Amino acid sequence: MADHSSVKNNHEIVEKNLGVLVIMICVAISFATLVEIVPLFFQKEVNEPVPGMKPLTALQLEGRDIYIREGCNVCHSQMVRPLRAETERYGHYSVAGESVWDHPFLWGSKRTGPDLARIGQKYSDDWHRVHLINPRDVVPESNMPGFPWLQENKLTGELTAKKMEIFRGFGVPYTDADIQNAAASVKGKTEMEALIAYLQQLGTVMKK
Ligand code: HEC
Repeated sequence: MADHSSVKNNHEIVEKNLGVLVIMICVAISFATLVEIVPLFFQKEVNEPVPGMKPLTALQLEGRDIYIREGCNVCHSQMVRPLRAETERYGHYSVAGESVWDHPFLWGSKRTGPDLARIGQKYSDDWHRVHLINPRDVVPESNMPGFPWLQENKLTGELTAKKMEIFRGFGVPYTDADIQNAAASVKGKTEMEALIAYLQQLGTVMKK
């Protein structure tokens, strides 16, 4: 064993000095974090959209806001995990490239209802309309609430262009024409139409 009176024990400096210990812990954790997270910023499959992906249309974008407003994401996740049971039920597991334009992302972890990451094109628009007005009309045992007002509320399109500009600031490739036509393309449509348009495109880029 080392003779403490003559050999300098470097470990003791760290272990017996709380301030130094805290600093060293911070350095160790920060380093590990950097090594794990920073490379992701430069990985193509994490920060680039999957091939063929298109930004949400003005109507789909409004639908996404209604999805958030109504709290659909409280009961529904949008992330298929890479587990056999999940991919057999929902389809291909979710990949990061599908979420690069999703701000904020709606992955979630709580599933009162099924995952919706790949719901697009699974049902007809009519099915969704009936289901959203009163889920029990198509799924008798359902405990999902109805959202009948979506059928009545109409979009004004007042903020649509502004929202698209903000998303463009986040890197979503909206063109000037997309933004100019935004208000006209949603005005007068019902919230139901917008929400269904949003649902019908979810996850479809990976199905092709
Ligand atoms: C209180 C929890 C809850 C909320 C909030 C909720 N849902 Fe559901 N949802 C469920 C449950 C439970 C089911 C399964 C039963 C059924 O199909 O109705 C379901 C089923 C669904 C399905 C069918 C999924 C499939 O693969 O068959 C869709 C689509 C859906 N919900 C969309 C929505 C949308 C859009 C909203 C917001 C407007 C919403 N849900 C809000 C609980 C919820």
